[in-house]
Amino acid sequence: MAKSVYEEAYARSMQDPQGFWAAAAEDIHWDKRWDRVFDDARKPFYRWFAGGVLNTCYNALDLHVDRGRGKQRALVYDSPVTGTVKAFTYRELRDEVARIAGALRRQGVQKGDRVIIYMPMVPEAVMAMLACARIGAVHSVVFGGFASNELAKRIDDAKPRLILSASCGIEVNRTVPYKPLLDGAIELSAHKPERCVILQRPQETATLLKGRDLDWGDFVGGAPPADCVPVAATDPLYILYTSGTTGIPKGVVRDHGGHAVALKWSMGAIYGVGAGETYWAASDIGWVVGHSYIVYAPLLKGCTTILYEGKPVGTPDPGAFWRLIAQHGVNVLFTAPTAFRAIKKEDPQGAHMAKHDLACFRTLFLAGERCDPDTLHWAEDKLGVPVIDHWWQTETGWPIAANCVGLGTLPVKAGSPTKAVPGYRVRVLSEDNQELPAGQIGSIAIALPLPPGCLPTLWNNDAGYETSYLTKHPGHYLTGDAGYQDDDGYLYIMSRVDDIINVAGHRLSTGAMEEVLAAHPDVAECAVVGVADEIKGEVPVGFVVTKAGVERPEAEIARELVDKVRALIGPVAAFKLALVVKRLPKTRSGKILRGTMKRIAEGQEYTLPATIDDPAILGEIRDALQQKGYAKKG
Ligand code: COA
Ligand code: AMP
Repeated sequence: MAKSVYEEAYARSMQDPQGFWAAAAEDIHWDKRWDRVFDDARKPFYRWFAGGVLNTCYNALDLHVDRGRGKQRALVYDSPVTGTVKAFTYRELRDEVARIAGALRRQGVQKGDRVIIYMPMVPEAVMAMLACARIGAVHSVVFGGFASNELAKRIDDAKPRLILSASCGIEVNRTVPYKPLLDGAIELSAHKPERCVILQRPQETATLLKGRDLDWGDFVGGAPPADCVPVAATDPLYILYTSGTTGIPKGVVRDHGGHAVALKWSMGAIYGVGAGETYWAASDIGWVVGHSYIVYAPLLKGCTTILYEGKPVGTPDPGAFWRLIAQHGVNVLFTAPTAFRAIKKEDPQGAHMAKHDLACFRTLFLAGERCDPDTLHWAEDKLGVPVIDHWWQTETGWPIAANCVGLGTLPVKAGSPTKAVPGYRVRVLSEDNQELPAGQIGSIAIALPLPPGCLPTLWNNDAGYETSYLTKHPGHYLTGDAGYQDDDGYLYIMSRVDDIINVAGHRLSTGAMEEVLAAHPDVAECAVVGVADEIKGEVPVGFVVTKAGVERPEAEIARELVDKVRALIGPVAAFKLALVVKRLPKTRSGKILRGTMKRIAEGQEYTLPATIDDPAILGEIRDALQQKGYAKKG
């Protein structure tokens, strides 16, 4: 049987990766072409397009203006929370970005300097990212839902010269003052940035600190536009911190060359989108989806990208997504299944969809968490377009497994993100590194080298990169996900093998939450597990045992713990339930049985672990959970 386009592309990417990616790289403007497509001189720190010189911002903006797309909309900002819709053409966006780049230069920011961007979903945030790229500065965007303590960790690791922020963010019906969070972070951090630039929003203005803070208007006012600075393909474009297994986030590094090549290729091959079309990733620039598919990929491809400051529901109703699709002519939407679950709950019949003309809408992509078949079928049914689940991570920066629409859509199997994307040799491995047969669950790994665009290392932490990702399965990158492949080569991503949970499509570490709980003076020991949630997929639930002699009311301690996680990690953790229990279930060797607690909380059957030290504890845990509405038999 003749190979499909996808099969042919996949085979080529495996047999001749250098030829495959060199061909894709022809789509990028290089100031100097690469010396080697692939450089393995410093194994296992492989590099793509070594010797190549380019500018990512040039490829995302100037190139399109130079080639006649100057009048096309590049960015549409749609903000129901402020009642604003504003479009920027490629020419306008380039000019704004050049001015911000000039302003950064005027503040002494040089190639290689780090700039933290702690901003809500406003156009200035996107412009700031591109402005950094323009002058070769390394941006690190921190999600607005993180608290001061988390921001401080990132400041200390990235050591930014400058922080760009705003007076506030807006969440449905409340403003979130960012400035006090920023001030708090700088107080906590050992590294102090030279300057903070604050975008004052009319919803809430911030007090500026004399000598350190600068108003955005003054920062940009009169700044000479800066031109694109050529940088090495292997230079860092950004650092994006993501949850690891402890409270210390991992600084995922992205380089310029491989990133530009892979992302631009992905727009056509995976998403089936061409220049001039409108692409919307309903995510946040604080996450990798926002970096790759709100900012870089659609602009590299010459698309119109949408920046949405709102939610799927509540701003103002579950028809928000359909209003945007119709109003801006969106061809392809990318969001997380949780957003669809939220919409489905409020509008099960899809009545809001029927109010809008969705003729332009072609494909829906979902990622960030496993897409449950119910949500997938509901979306297919109501929208009448292909619904494509695809799997990736902050570390890879673009999809590992997908139904590559641009290479010929394969049959959809609910619960599977389809097959490995060209460039990724995905394997399901056993504990002893043997490839497992179809149907058997194992640790999902990717044979090295990773394709272009994936992380080359962690920021200032080569050793951490090796131990976190390359040690468990020699010759492979450890994804941290467990799952299996079926007889047709479709992948099924079932769970994490570590402490990471996925709350409303946000990646969080239960280990980090446990660190917060353990630091409470009354807590002797604790455990946090992710428990299934109808809308958010999973939510964290904490169990604590208090120290001997603590006699304060349990409810008071529980409330303090909830407040503490919110204050130290942030509201995004959605940590709303802490239970004070007498003991934690453990094995005889002292390992806390988190998996069993999770099953109890979810009302699932569980087998009594043979090694448990005291089985009666499980009944106590179940009773405590039942009082809070969990642990019900389904
Ligand atoms: N700044 C400050 N606070 C923020 C924030 C931000 N940028 N983003 C979220 N928060 C707060 C929220 O206000 C909420 O606070 P609360 O506990 O006081 O209500 C908390 O963090 C949790 O936010 P969120 O996860 O957004 O939950 P929600 O209940 O407000 O909304 C959904 C639920 C499903 C509608 C929402 O999570 C959603 O749209 N998810 C889409 C998924 C997504 O974007 N994933 C990214 C990867 S693709
Ligand atoms: P993040 O780094 O925040 O993008 O989170 C990556 C993690 O989210 C992955 O390692 C998976 O655990 C999970 N994930 C993302 N997309 C999917 C998907 N389509 N199916 C199952 N899990 C997913």
